Amino acid sequence: MRHDHLITSKQLSRGDIETVLDRAAEIDADPSAVADRHAGALLGLLFFEPSTRTKMSFETAMKRLGGDVVDMGSVESSSVKKGETLADTVRVIEGYADALVLRHPKQGSATMASEFVDVPLVNAGDGAGHHPSQTLLDLYTIRENAGLEDLTIGIMGDLKYGRTVHSLAAALTNFDARQHFISPESLRLPREVVYDLHQQGGTTGVREHESLAEVLPSLDVLYVTRIQRERFPDENEYQKVAGEYQIDPETLEAASDDLTIMHPLPRVDEIAPEIDETDYAAYFEQAHNGVPVRMALLDLLLSDDLGIGGDGDE
Ligand code: NCD
Repeated sequence: MRHDHLITSKQLSRGDIETVLDRAAEIDADPSAVADRHAGALLGLLFFEPSTRTKMSFETAMKRLGGDVVDMGSVESSSVKKGETLADTVRVIEGYADALVLRHPKQGSATMASEFVDVPLVNAGDGAGHHPSQTLLDLYTIRENAGLEDLTIGIMGDLKYGRTVHSLAAALTNFDARQHFISPESLRLPREVVYDLHQQGGTTGVREHESLAEVLPSLDVLYVTRIQRERFPDENEYQKVAGEYQIDPETLEAASDDLTIMHPLPRVDEIAPEIDETDYAAYFEQAHNGVPVRMALLDLLLSDDLGIGGDGDE
């Protein structure tokens, strides 16, 4: 039987998102209730790029559901080094596992890989493309802190290469969200992403800015991202924008007292450490939410209870 794959957040309707978030909230309230739910199930981890949070939280989630993981390990120590194709690797590991999680530097790789497997495959980041499980935990964190109704959000930093941004922005078109995108000119959202956001009917629109100051006072949530150094074709181009758009206590003087600051992490220097102890900071809570949200997602995918369609490209 063919299962669902989660490749982009464009596949997720508002109902799908609410199903995952509600399930995550239930699990968060009483994780012991699902401790044996997927006993004996195995999750295959294929990470062709570095990861700490995503990989460890998927592993924790699977173990907390009673299952276990089989991990390809580093690219250096796998048969990828011998020239094995991604299609062959996923086909082999599919035979060992009940679901797969894939991170790969190439945009589109998750869509391609999903065509070769019948077990559910979750895209944990395909180059500058998408990262939908991150989006689900981002939405969970927004819902807990600011609510998803009538939301004004600023998304700042590397909007060109940031896959968490592309996924979050697409998912937010399901809600009544005003989305402000703040970046240097050279790191604006790719035009096709803006086009898609308009097509998906971002109800209250998409606005782009170079300055945070002009929107900061109106924001409920500020989602800060790292400049994705590894995706710049030219290191000099990275150096030109490195260190721009940093948040420190002075920046926040104009912010609302209720502002929630999020970041998918890892941070480099985008958020000063002094912010960590303030009520604004939700980024460590956000990272912790990765476990219940991924438990919910895995539970729904393994039980065939999500019913998401397509690969988001249509
Ligand atoms: C992000 C990623 O890998 O896209 N990290 C994550 O999964 N939390 C963000 C980043 O690397 O900057």
